[in-house]
Amino acid sequence: MALLEVKNFTKSFGKLEVLKGIDFSLEKGKVLSIIGSSGSGKTTLLRCLNFLETPDTGTMSVNGNIIFDASNKKRVSEEAIRKNRLHFGLVFQQFNLFPQYTVLENITLAPKLRLGEEKLSKEDKKLRIDRINTDAWDLLKRVGLTDKADYYPCQLSGGQQQRVAIARALALTPDVLCFDEPTSALDPELTGEVLSVIRDLKSADSTMIIVTHEMDFAKHVSDEIIFMANGVIEEQGTPEQIFDNPSSELTKAFLNKSLESF
Ligand SMILES: Nc1ncnc2c1ncn2[C@@H]1O[C@H](COP(=O)(O)OP(=O)(O)OP(=O)(O)O)[C@@H](O)[C@H]1O
Ligand SMILES: [Mg+2]
Repeated sequence: MALLEVKNFTKSFGKLEVLKGIDFSLEKGKVLSIIGSSGSGKTTLLRCLNFLETPDTGTMSVNGNIIFDASNKKRVSEEAIRKNRLHFGLVFQQFNLFPQYTVLENITLAPKLRLGEEKLSKEDKKLRIDRINTDAWDLLKRVGLTDKADYYPCQLSGGQQQRVAIARALALTPDVLCFDEPTSALDPELTGEVLSVIRDLKSADSTMIIVTHEMDFAKHVSDEIIFMANGVIEEQGTPEQIFDNPSSELTKAFLNKSLESF
C-alpha cells in the first residue's frame, strides 16, 4: 500500500484554476521530485498537502486512512487539521526560522508545544522533555551543526539556516518531508551542503517530496519525477524516463530551457 495517495486535487484562486486534477501516490522511503516552470502549481500542491491550502476537490490518504476529503462538508476541527498536518513536514525556500529563538530552541519548540497539549504526570513530562532535547541534539548532529546550538538564526549562513529548518521539520517525525525549492535562496557555494543533508536523509529511507529547479540533483536523488505544466501532471516517470527519454513535447521544451540556463 502506498504511504501517500492523492486523488483528483483541484484548486482555484478566483477564476484562476491552478491545480486541475492531480493524482499521484508515493511509497514509503521513496523520493519524489516535482519539476515544472514558474506558476505551474508546484508550491500550491505542496501547500495543499500540508493543509496550508484547502483543495476544492479530491482526497488524500496516508497509510490507507483518508485524512482529507473535499466532498466531506462537515466542519473539521482545528485540532484534527493540526493532527493531520503532522503527517507532513515542510521546508520552505526562505527557511522561516524563528529569529528570536536559538538554533536548539527552533528545533525543540514545536515538540514542546505539542507536549504541552498532553496530560502527563510531572515525572513523565520531565522524561519527555529530556527526550526532546536529546533528539534535537541528534538532529543537529545529522545536519552537522552541533557547534551552533546556541546561535541565533541571524548569526548563521543561509545554508546553515536551511539545515536548521530541515532539523526542525524532522523533529516532529513527519511521514513525508516536503521541500519547496530548498536551495534557490542560497548562493551556489552553499547549495551543496543542503543537498548533501537531503541525500543523507534519502540514505536513511526518509520519504520526501522535493520541488526543485536543481535538475541534476533531481535526476540523481529521486526515485520518481513529476513534471507539472499548467496545473496538471504532464508527465511522470523515473529520472531516466523523464530526463533521458521524455515523451511529452512540453517536458522536452522545459528540459531544454533548463539546460540552457546552465
Ligand atoms: N494565494 C493565492 N492567491 C491567488 N493566486 C495564487 C495564490 N497562490 C498561488 N497563486 C497563483 O497560482 C499560480 C501557481 O502558483 P504556484 O506558487 O503554485 O506556482 P509554482 O509552480 O510554485 O511557481 P514557482 O516555480 O515560481 O515557485 C500562480 O499563477 C500564482 O499567482
Ligand atoms: Mg513555487
